[in-house]
Amino acid sequence: MRFDVITLFPELFAPHLEVGVTRRAYVDGKLQLQLWPLRDFAEGNYRRVDDRPFGGGPGMVMMAPPLERALDAVHAARVQAGEGTGAGHRAPLIHFSPTGRRLDQALVRELAAGPGAVLLCGRYEGIDQRFIDRHVDMEVSLGDFVLSGGELPALVLLDAVARLQPGVLQDAASHQQDSFEDGLLDCPHYSRPEQLPRADGGVDAVPQVLLSGHHGRIARWRRERSLELTARRRPDLIAAARAAGRLSREDERFLQALDIEPKP
Ligand SMILES: C[S@@+](CC[C@H](N)C(=O)[O-])C[C@H]1O[C@@H](n2cnc3c(N)ncnc32)[C@H](O)[C@@H]1O
Repeated sequence: MRFDVITLFPELFAPHLEVGVTRRAYVDGKLQLQLWPLRDFAEGNYRRVDDRPFGGGPGMVMMAPPLERALDAVHAARVQAGEGTGAGHRAPLIHFSPTGRRLDQALVRELAAGPGAVLLCGRYEGIDQRFIDRHVDMEVSLGDFVLSGGELPALVLLDAVARLQPGVLQDAASHQQDSFEDGLLDCPHYSRPEQLPRADGGVDAVPQVLLSGHHGRIARWRRERSLELTARRRPDLIAAARAAGRLSREDERFLQALDIEPKP
């Protein structure tokens, strides 16, 4: 799967390729990342990519012509590499913007199963709207806050997609128990030591059930912690899981007993 990134700051991406589990995705070629420095597509001595906004006001706007040249180059390279551009094969052009659809695991899964994407990282006040109207397939936001550029959102998306590629996580089941995979938040996790000393002389112990070796009881305990955390922090996810028929009768009984969320 191939991702092309149009950015003013390609140097921000290098560290991500070299560390952690996601490194394996790039080394094994499961993800190919091609960076397109926008300045390479600017004209004139100053290689300008931005200009003042029509109508006045603060800040600068990324101009459409360098972006169009960069996008043409991306499309040509994808065709040359045999990445289909016909209907159904064309990789979407994703523009990162606080005004976009919020990135979530459902979108990550969708992208992880697709042909990759062209990622467009904005800077300054943003991108000339005419370029967005002409070319962008999807606008994606990281959340309700404003960053100084789209590079960090692009890295976030790449990281989330990379870890879903087969063979990237050593234990294939690992991401299946992550938050959102089954629509709920993940349960808490514990490791050694069994007894963690406290400053007051006491200890914080690992929940006994996790030491029992009883797989059924451990699985139920994890499911219940997951349900409880989700009900307390994200009742919207409980409602969605219920609507999708993903809660068992046992789950519903447990939630009723918790008495912390609206009854179905
Ligand atoms: C300073 S921001 C521009 C913010 C824009 N004027 C607005 O208020 O919506 C510069 C760039 O950072 C990126 N960006 C900032 N916040 C973001 C967010 N929450 N999600 C995704 N991209 C973001 C976008 O690519 C944006 O074009």
